[in-house]
Amino acid sequence: MLTVFLVTVLVILAYWSTRKPKELPPGRWGLPLVGYLPSNISVFKEVMEDFKKDYGSIFTWRVGSHVVVGLNDYPLIKSVFSMPQCQGRPDLFTFNIFKLNTNSGLVFSEGRVWHEGRRFALRHLRDFGLGKTSMEDIIEREAQELVAEFGKSGEQPIEVSWSLNVAVLNVIWRIVANRRYSIHDPEILRFSRMVATNLEIIQGPASLLDMFPWLARVAPSLLLDRWMRIDVLHKNLADFHKFVMDIIEEHKDTMDVNSPRDLIDTYLAARGDEPAFGAADDDINLFATISDLFGAGSETTSSTTRWVLLLMALHPEVQARVQKEIDEAVARNSLPSLKDRDKMPYTDAMLLETLRYSSLLPLSLFHATTEQVKISGYTVPKGTLLMANVEGCHRDPTYWEKPDEFYPEHFLDKEGRLLTKKEGFLPFSTGRRQCLGESLARMELFLFVSAILQNFTIKAPEGVTLTAEKDKGNRLFNMARPYKIVFAKRA
Ligand code: HEM
Repeated sequence: MLTVFLVTVLVILAYWSTRKPKELPPGRWGLPLVGYLPSNISVFKEVMEDFKKDYGSIFTWRVGSHVVVGLNDYPLIKSVFSMPQCQGRPDLFTFNIFKLNTNSGLVFSEGRVWHEGRRFALRHLRDFGLGKTSMEDIIEREAQELVAEFGKSGEQPIEVSWSLNVAVLNVIWRIVANRRYSIHDPEILRFSRMVATNLEIIQGPASLLDMFPWLARVAPSLLLDRWMRIDVLHKNLADFHKFVMDIIEEHKDTMDVNSPRDLIDTYLAARGDEPAFGAADDDINLFATISDLFGAGSETTSSTTRWVLLLMALHPEVQARVQKEIDEAVARNSLPSLKDRDKMPYTDAMLLETLRYSSLLPLSLFHATTEQVKISGYTVPKGTLLMANVEGCHRDPTYWEKPDEFYPEHFLDKEGRLLTKKEGFLPFSTGRRQCLGESLARMELFLFVSAILQNFTIKAPEGVTLTAEKDKGNRLFNMARPYKIVFAKRA
C-alpha cells in the first residue's frame, strides 16, 4: 500500500516538475534538474533563432536551474529593458565571481549599490578632465601611439590586437588611476592577457556552472580546475585584486580631498562614516567598480576596433570613401579631432554599421526580474533570466535595407546626413542598464579609426583571403577571427 502511495506521489511530482507553468510564455520546459537541452545549446544566439521560428517574439526556456524568458523582437526588448522590475542580473556562477559574491560594482550589482554607483561613474566620465587634460586629449595621445606603432610595421603583415588593447586599457587607466603604460610595459601585457583569459574562461566549459550551479558542489576539483580553469579565474582575480588594492592604498596616502586626480580619489573623497552607495564594504565596492570598468570597457572597444580594421580591408571602396572624407575635413598635419566630426558623417555611419554588422554582444548582457512582472500579458516570476536577441534585431529586414551586408548607408539619410537614432539598433543595449561607457566608446572608435585611416591604407596581406566570419570559439561574444593586415603608408 505504502509503495503504491509513494509511486503515485513520485509520478505526480515528476508530472508537475516537467510541466511549464501556464502563466509563462509558450516554450520548452524539459526535464527536472537539466531542463531542455537543444543540440546547439553552446551557441545561445542560434537557440534564440530556433525559438523565434517556433514561438515568435517571446518564449520560455528552462535550461539547467534557470527559467529563461527570451525576447525576440525590438519593440519588446525596448519595453522590457525599460521596466524597473527588469533591471536585475541573474544569479550566475561567473557573475557572482566578478562581483566577489557580494552586491558590488557596476555591471553585476542591483538595487541601490547599482543605481548610485552607476550615477557616480556616469558623472565621473562626464565631468572628467574639466580644466585639466580632457578625455579627447587622452584618447588622441593613444591614437598617436597607435599610428607610430603601426608605422613601424614597414608594411609587413601584423596582428593588431595587442596595440589596440594597450591603447584602450590606457584610456581606462587614466580615468581610474591617472596612470599610463608604455606599449611594451610587462605589467600592462600581463594585465591585458589576464582580461583576455578571463573572457575565454567564462565562455568555455565554465559556463556549464552558470546553467547547472549544483555542478560546482558535486564536480571533483580536478574537473573544475583542469577542464573549466576555475582556479585560473580565481588566481587572476586575486592578482588583480592585490594590484588594484595597492593602488588604492597609495591613493589614500597621497590624495588631496579638494583636488581629486581620478576616479579613485573621487570615490575616496565621497565616502563618509557609512560605506558609499549602500555597499557592504567600501574597498570591495571600489575594487569591483574598477574591475567592471576594465571588464566592460576594454575588450569591447578593442574588439570593435579590430572589426573596423578587418572590414576596411574587406571593403576597399568604403575605406576610400572614409579617407576622402577625412582628407577633406582635416588638415594633413594634424590628427582628426572631435570638432571635425560634424564634417565626417560617412565615417560615423561606417562605425555605427560596424557595430550593427558585428553585433559584438549578440544577446546584450543577461538581465533578471527583481519581482514578479507582467510581460506581454504573461506573468513572469521574480528571478527569471531575461535574454534579448540583439543580433536578431540587427539582422531584421523590417529595419535594415541590406541586413546581411556591410552597408554604411544604413545610417545616412538621402542627403547624406548621419542618422543617429535608428529603430532596431541596440549595440549598447537599451533602457536603464544601457552601456554607461557608450559615449566614451564612440569617441575612442572615432578618434582611433580616423587617425589610422588618415595615415594608412589597410590591406589584406599578398595572397591572403580575409574573412568576416565570426570566431565560433566565442559563444557569448561575436569576435572577429584572428587575422593579420598590412598598414600601407599614405602619401
Ligand atoms: C564598443 C564598445 C562597447 C560596447 C559594444 C558595449 C556594450 C555594452 C552592452 C551591450 C552592455 C549591457 C547593457 C545591459 O545590461 O542591458 C554594456 C554594459 C556596460 N558597459 Fe559597455 N560597451 C562598450 C564599451 C564600454 C566602455 C568603454 C565602458 C566604460 C569604460 C563600458 C562600461 C559598461 C558598464 C559599466 C556596463 C554595465 C551597465 C549597467 O549594468 O548598468 N562599456 N555595455
